[in-house]
Amino acid sequence: MWNSIGNNFTITSFGESHGKCVGIIIDGCPAGLPITDHDIQIELDKRKPGVSSLATSRTEADKVEILSGIFNGCTTGAPICLLIWNRDIKSSEYEKKRFMLRPGHADFTAFMKYGGFNDFRGGGRFSGRITATFVMAGAVAKKLLGLIGIEVIAHTIAIGDIKVETRQVEEIRENVEKNPVKCADTGAAEGMIKAIEQAKKEGDSLGGIIEGLVLNVPTGLGEPVFDTLEGNLAKALFAIPAVKGVEFGAGFRVAEKKGSDNNDSFIIRENSVVTATNNAGGILGGISTGMPIVVRVAVKPTPSITKNQNTVNINSMEEVSLTVKGRHDPCIVPRAVPVVESMIAVILCDFAIGAGLIPRVIK
Ligand SMILES: Cc1cc2nc3c(=O)[nH]c(=O)nc-3n(C[C@H](O)[C@H](O)[C@H](O)COP(=O)(O)O)c2cc1C
Repeated sequence: MWNSIGNNFTITSFGESHGKCVGIIIDGCPAGLPITDHDIQIELDKRKPGVSSLATSRTEADKVEILSGIFNGCTTGAPICLLIWNRDIKSSEYEKKRFMLRPGHADFTAFMKYGGFNDFRGGGRFSGRITATFVMAGAVAKKLLGLIGIEVIAHTIAIGDIKVETRQVEEIRENVEKNPVKCADTGAAEGMIKAIEQAKKEGDSLGGIIEGLVLNVPTGLGEPVFDTLEGNLAKALFAIPAVKGVEFGAGFRVAEKKGSDNNDSFIIRENSVVTATNNAGGILGGISTGMPIVVRVAVKPTPSITKNQNTVNINSMEEVSLTVKGRHDPCIVPRAVPVVESMIAVILCDFAIGAGLIPRVIK
C-alpha cells in the first residue's frame, strides 16, 4: 500500500499541489461518530497557508468538502472521502525551471523514478500541501480517540538553535495556538519568530523539532514484532515531507546513559503499575506502557530557498546555479505541528480500533 497506511483505520491520500484537489479516503471508521465539516475545518485551519509572514504566501481557504461516509452529522461506516480544492495555483516558476533540480527537494528522485511523467508543479505529490489530507484524517481520528479519553498534543520545541525544555501539558494546551511558531514557551517563541524572519531576509530557511505527546494511553497497544507501536508511528511520521528524524522518550540520548540511569523504575500509583520516569517514551517491546507517549520529530530546513545554489539541469545535463523563486515556507516546523498531531492520532486510532477499544458502532 503506497499511498495508504493503517490496518483497521486505513487512510489513503491523493492529489497534487497544483492539481485540482488534495484529499483523503478513510476506511474502517466506526459508524455513529458525530462529526461535522466544522470539526474538520478547525484542524485544517491550524496548518492553512498564508496566515502569517512565517509561512508561504499561497492563499488557500482549505475548505473541507465531505463527499461520502458522513450522513445526518454522523459517520455511516462507509468510506469517508474528504477533499479540499486547490485554488491559488501559480505554476509559472515551476514550468520555467522544470529541469533545474532543487537541492534538498524530491525533484531528482521523482524525475528518476517516474521518468519525468510526475506532476512537478509545486512539488506535485511531494509537496507539503499533501499534508492537509493527513490533517483531515487526523480530525476524524482525534474525535474517535476522544471517546476513550486519549488526547494527542504537539508543539514546537526547537527552531534552528533556539530550544525550549518540555513544558507542562496545561501550558502547552494554553499557549500552543497563541503564537505563529506553536511554541508553549511564549518568550522563546519571540526569538524563534525573529530567527525565521532573519533567515527569510537572507534568502535562507530554518528547521526545528516538534514534540508529540499522547495522554491517557491504555496499556497494551502495539503488535510485535513488525507492527510495533513505535515502528508504525515512525512510519507515519516519516510520511510527512521534510521529517528526517524520529525519536521516542530519551531517544538518541540512551546511547550515552547507563542502564541504571535509563531504566524507568516501576512503582504503584492509585493501584496501577506506572514508571517513576519515562525514558522509554511510553513504549516497551513495541507495546504502550500506559505512560504518556513522547515522540520528537526533526524537521529539516525548507529546501526551496532564494539563496543561490549549485545544481544540475537534468534535461541539458549541465551544471547550473539556481535561485528558487515562488512561494515557500521559510520554516516548515509551525505548519507541520498539526500534521504531526494528526499522524500520531491516525496510528493510535488504528491500534485502538484493532484492540476493540473503540466499538464498530458508536451509540
Ligand atoms: C507543511 C509542510 C510545508 C512544506 N513547505 C515547503 C515549501 O514551501 N518549500 C519546499 O521546498 N518544501 C516544503 N516542504 C518540504 C518538502 O515537501 C520536502 O522537503 C520534499 O518533498 C523532500 O522530501 P524530504 O525532505 O522528506 O526528503 C514542506 C513540508 C511540509 C510538511
